[in-house]
Amino acid sequence: MDLSDILTHLGEERSQYFNAISPPIIQTSNFAFKDTASFRAAFLDERGHHLYSRGNNPTTEILRKKIAALEKAEDSLVFGSGVAAMACAVMSNVQAGDHIICVENPYSWTHKLVSKLLLKFGVDHTFVSGTDNQEIADAIRPETRVMILESPNSITFKIQDLKFCGEICRAHGITSIIDNTFASPLYQNPHTWGIDIVMHTISKYLNGHSDVVAGVITGTQKMMDKIFASEFMTLGPILSPHDAAMVLRGLRTLPLRMERVHRSGLAVAQYLEAHAKVTQVIHPLLPSFDQHDLALQQMSGAGGVFSFLLKAQTIEDVNAFVDRLERFTLAVSWGGHESLVIPFSIFYNIEGRENPAYPFNLIRLYVGLEDPDYLIQDLENAFTAL
Ligand SMILES: Cc1ncc(COP(=O)(O)O)c(C=O)c1O
Repeated sequence: MDLSDILTHLGEERSQYFNAISPPIIQTSNFAFKDTASFRAAFLDERGHHLYSRGNNPTTEILRKKIAALEKAEDSLVFGSGVAAMACAVMSNVQAGDHIICVENPYSWTHKLVSKLLLKFGVDHTFVSGTDNQEIADAIRPETRVMILESPNSITFKIQDLKFCGEICRAHGITSIIDNTFASPLYQNPHTWGIDIVMHTISKYLNGHSDVVAGVITGTQKMMDKIFASEFMTLGPILSPHDAAMVLRGLRTLPLRMERVHRSGLAVAQYLEAHAKVTQVIHPLLPSFDQHDLALQQMSGAGGVFSFLLKAQTIEDVNAFVDRLERFTLAVSWGGHESLVIPFSIFYNIEGRENPAYPFNLIRLYVGLEDPDYLIQDLENAFTAL
């Protein structure tokens, strides 16, 4: 289906709401029925009806249809956060005694889901680097039921061979799940490589304005029905109709925003790579990236997030550089209009905690919608702090 058609028309039954161009926010918890037969039919098939907004709501339904189409999937489920989407996708496919393979250093709360929460329920795990197909194959056990991928990973940008992972999971009856947020549905469609469930935190590019926390999973109708009937309905991690409408508005400009952050991100990365006070830039679409060939095979763009290693001797040097930045805001997250920075130096020397696995001079940037020259000037100015 044409991208413009998905973003402008798909799922929008305008004759049902006075031919309004923008879908209404159907702010209701429940729905009325004209007779017992239709009431009974809704109970028997809650997914196919509007019975109660913890299940289906017409505003969130429009969003579901659009994101499923963006990921070339049969269906999707939207959630009140990305972590809820990932947790429900994983939990629905494991039980006590099962084993999960997960890439090392995934998003921190995905790591905690696997290493802490699921362990409490008797689900074991193995973390793999994800960059070596043999290592992935060797980690498979008879009781392995789920493989969690994150490609690229949003800090190290390591990528996994999606075709290989899709095939090996199919061969062993393992459900493959990927966090595809970094690439967005415009630059990578993992279902086309045989991955079963694709997850996004909508809080990043899909919404794109840093004002909604939400998540989504896409997959077959059968898989979405299964998750709906289990974790989705029992845990209730839903997105409100109001937030769904906000995301629908953000989604209209997804291709424009992605193209802008992709180009600007590469321009800033190239500037940094040529700078004498930078040791390394880690960006999947730079030729210097370790897995550059695989990145080109799987991804048609990269968005605006990447990391670099500052040529700094001390944590104080890194902090002085970052504190000099005025146009990159110190904040978590990414994918909105505004450029952001996280120095890993802030996670060092915290009492009672181990230092992170990343070097102290690693800095993650998110290049937003500003003019790249305006951002480069800011970096140039900050380098004088060194
Ligand atoms: C790669 C990645 N996955 C998942 C999440 C979690 O999403 P949410 O904050 O919407 O729960 C984040 C949040 O920062 C993220 O960066």
